[in-house]
Amino acid sequence: MPAAIKLVREGKADPQSLDPFEEGDYTSAIKRYFGGHLADFRSRTFVDVGAGFGSRAHTAVSKLGAQVINADISQDAIVHLRELNQEKGVVADAYKLPFADNSVEGIISSNFINSSAVGGESDEDSKLNERDFMNEIARVLKKDGLFIQTNFGVGENARESWLALAVEAGFSDIEQIRPVTNAAKSRETRSTNKQRGWIGPLAFIARKSG
Ligand SMILES: C[S@@+](CC[C@H](N)C(=O)[O-])C[C@H]1O[C@@H](n2cnc3c(N)ncnc32)[C@H](O)[C@@H]1O
Repeated sequence: MPAAIKLVREGKADPQSLDPFEEGDYTSAIKRYFGGHLADFRSRTFVDVGAGFGSRAHTAVSKLGAQVINADISQDAIVHLRELNQEKGVVADAYKLPFADNSVEGIISSNFINSSAVGGESDEDSKLNERDFMNEIARVLKKDGLFIQTNFGVGENARESWLALAVEAGFSDIEQIRPVTNAAKSRETRSTNKQRGWIGPLAFIARKSG
């Protein structure tokens, strides 16, 4: 693991608390695992890229005091979030964000990279798209800008690849959570996980270094 990447928790984290589709208390999980960033959440404006109809990461960061601006290619999503949360929003392509270089304090990306939004016809296409996306995020963020990345289910290879792409795009101080199935899980679940490789929610917070 490159020095820029720090594993915040492994083994003790409850996977359900960070899974966007489970009912754990996501805000508490973010506080517990990424508590060092609470002052940042209170004082910054985050752009939620591929915001859709909102996400647990979006709600958590906003509950913790951040201002949120939504960016999505779908006008319906932007209108929905504006009416629901009275938040600002912009219809925009994640690969050509309508923000100047070094101008944004924070980015949220939830279930965007591993959705059809960033997929491709081949693994190589997907990787190129992921790289372009990370580079675009890095372009608009200010120095020390924060990138919050959350996903509901990520295999080991994707995890390694995304973290490497984030480092390549110029992020450092990467704190990642890697929750693992705990002993209380059934023998059947543990054996299924073993067979198909580890898949679980991924959350990381990265800081733009340059
Ligand atoms: C799987 S949804 C994720 C929504 C939400 N962030 C969540 O965690 O539930 C992906 C979102 O990305 C948006 N999207 C797809 N391609 C996009 C692009 N090129 N630029 C911006 N948004 C895009 C879609 O409209 C959709 O709302």
